[in-house]
Amino acid sequence: MDPGSNPDAPNPNQDPAPSAADAAPQPSDAGIEAIARRVQESLSLSGVSRHRFWETQPVGQFRDLGDTSLPEGPIEAPTPLSDVRRDPYNLPAQYEWTTCDIDDDHTCTEVYNLLTQNYVEDDENMFRFNYSMEFLRWALRPPGYFKSWHIGVRAKASQKLVAFITGVPARIRVRDDVVKWRRSTFLCVHKKLRSKRLAPVMIKEVTRRVHLENIWQASYTAGVVIPTPISTCRYWHRSLNPKKLIDVGFSRLGARMTMSRTVKLYKLPESTVTKGFRKMELRDVPAVTRLLKEYLRQFAVAPDFDQDDVEHWLLPLENVVDSYLVESPETHEITDFCSFYTLPSSILNNPNYSLLKAAYSYYNVSTKTPLQQLMNDALIVAKKNDYDVFNALDVMQNESFLKELKFGPGDGHLHYYLYNYRIRKALHPSELGLVLL
Ligand SMILES: CC(C)(COP(=O)(O)OP(=O)(O)OC[C@H]1O[C@@H](n2cnc3c(N)ncnc32)[C@H](O)[C@@H]1OP(=O)(O)O)[C@@H](O)C(=O)NCCC(=O)NCCS
Repeated sequence: MDPGSNPDAPNPNQDPAPSAADAAPQPSDAGIEAIARRVQESLSLSGVSRHRFWETQPVGQFRDLGDTSLPEGPIEAPTPLSDVRRDPYNLPAQYEWTTCDIDDDHTCTEVYNLLTQNYVEDDENMFRFNYSMEFLRWALRPPGYFKSWHIGVRAKASQKLVAFITGVPARIRVRDDVVKWRRSTFLCVHKKLRSKRLAPVMIKEVTRRVHLENIWQASYTAGVVIPTPISTCRYWHRSLNPKKLIDVGFSRLGARMTMSRTVKLYKLPESTVTKGFRKMELRDVPAVTRLLKEYLRQFAVAPDFDQDDVEHWLLPLENVVDSYLVESPETHEITDFCSFYTLPSSILNNPNYSLLKAAYSYYNVSTKTPLQQLMNDALIVAKKNDYDVFNALDVMQNESFLKELKFGPGDGHLHYYLYNYRIRKALHPSELGLVLL
């Protein structure tokens, strides 16, 4: 949709803010196959290898797209643990590895500062993700996490933290196959050290440490196209505070729209409408786990959550994750669930505002309450809690409510990847039951 092209339509946002989606080729209907074909064509024309690192890794390769004779599943079999390299990979001489103890306030602050100043920005460098320290601790310490997978790179002379990469363990189901995975996040190299091929060494090092724990697969998302996305999703944005979003350049006033009409368009009721809608509590963990397990079964790729995972990932944690559910006033059965996590962005170079408070749709389950109504209630609580915008990917059944609830499509795309696991055919976002932070 062209921003502002229809004055009566919700004003789509100019950009998904830093959605980790950058100037990647825009997938057409043919999606990933089309991207890959274009890449392949340009490769054969230029005769160069475009992905010098990724072409050496056990990941789906562009050249294999459409080859249905290749089996789904692990690409390489595990090697005996005794064959896994014992020594860390070599860094350029002036740098050294460090394991970042995220429990330690000083180290956590260093990581926070590195990311706040150097992590993902939107294409126009107006916004940069600003993960809070509480968020980092939550994201990096799920059940069974390994401290050794929180890896930093320091400059030897100054001891300054200049790069970071992490993994956390997860069980993810691909069709009928439940596998132990590393979920990767927070790959970041200081702006001054970019394009020096540090990222491939860091990816190899975290992979080595993961192999030492006898885990051989990984899942990750990125805004860039590398070999080979299993799915390409889009962020949608629902304005909650349209005036601020327009003032900071996140969205634009639609053609023939005034500010007051725009504010009216996005106005939400003061209180939620669903009877029995309330915040999730510790005692709800078993019921929510059951609800989610049953619901996620329908997707080709989804996490395999047990109660410990649900307690960690979904129990409300202030300014990190919010979860609400519907408890039937008659039967006290938990019938529906919705959740979002909090990921602000720094607003760069604006005299009036420094932070954009964004909620990101996480896992939602509707069995009795229509999904659209449930999500409208989620918007209402987000608005009440001063969020400026509510973002959602077009994964799971989200497409069914995005337009109706006045979300507008963002510009960028988010690509999902699996390491050492082949999927025969790219998945539609609605086949994905997985949200990675
Ligand atoms: C992502 C980032 C660490 C890459 O570092 P860099 O200095 O730009 O790139 P390097 O020279 O070290 O390495 C280039 C290789 O890394 C790959 N790469 C770049 N971004 C990647 C990503 N997000 N995930 C996986 N691989 C990536 C490149 O494709 C290239 O490999 P190839 O030759 O096989 O294609 C850096 O750009 C950064 O910190 N960006 C901001 C934060 C960010 O976007 N993080 C990723 C979030 S998904």
